[in-house]
Amino acid sequence: MIYGIYFSPTGSTKVVVEYLAEADKLIDITNENIKIEFCKDDVVYVGVPSFGGRVPGLALERMNEIVGNNARAVLISAYGNRASEDTLIELSDFLKNKGFTILCGIEAVCRHSIFTEVAKDRPDLKDFLDYDYFKKKIESLLLKEYKEPIIPGNRPYKMSKPAKLIPLTNSFCNDCGLCVKKCPTKAIDSNNFHKIDENLCISCMRCIHICPSHAKHIEEKTFKMLEEKLMPFFAERKNNNFYC
Ligand SMILES: Cc1cc2nc3c(=O)[nH]c(=O)nc-3n(C[C@H](O)[C@H](O)[C@H](O)COP(=O)(O)O)c2cc1C
Repeated sequence: MIYGIYFSPTGSTKVVVEYLAEADKLIDITNENIKIEFCKDDVVYVGVPSFGGRVPGLALERMNEIVGNNARAVLISAYGNRASEDTLIELSDFLKNKGFTILCGIEAVCRHSIFTEVAKDRPDLKDFLDYDYFKKKIESLLLKEYKEPIIPGNRPYKMSKPAKLIPLTNSFCNDCGLCVKKCPTKAIDSNNFHKIDENLCISCMRCIHICPSHAKHIEEKTFKMLEEKLMPFFAERKNNNFYC
């Protein structure tokens, strides 16, 4: 069986996994833990967004009870045109530890989920052509004798300290409750949608992304300050990368 697993608060990791894997079974771990035992004939595409150059801790928690049994894993890091850094190596170490055989790794540029004007339309046509090329490479790797891939990144992993961006709620909120339902960490108070538990919020931007009334947002001053600091890193178009 071919599986596609993704943690995807704002949907771009999902797009990449869906396209690359063409899976028999897609599994969304954004809001739920999974408990699955794979077998050695399975090919499992695992996609996560890069948060501060690392795998979001919650994505790893979600997969804590998976068993690889030597199934082959295709690693996917969706990143917002800055850098993926240690995301793939961290994902690789985690899945190896769960008994997977790592086939290859992919870094895919997607729209930045905080600074949504960055890589705004990505993945675009050019990216999908890259994905088609990656698919062919995966097909040929599956036929060849196994060789351990060289996955980028450093150990110890980067000390990730992404700024805590706790979404605010404006008067457009019409109490539909979608944000409460969709928040991966249940950080939004179900009796007061304006109230977010700062200890639980992982700043994944899902509530901002899905709010039909555009009521959730990041405080403008903080946003502008961060944007100014990070803009130089976003300037040029970054590449999708394949590692085998
Ligand atoms: C908290 C947070 C940290 C992020 N850190 C990085 C980063 O270090 N490098 C980068 O290129 N993109 C970064 N991004 C952008 C996401 O990796 C990118 O937008 C990804 O495609 C989001 O996936 P999703 O749409 O599946 O949620 C970050 C986004 C968030 C919310």
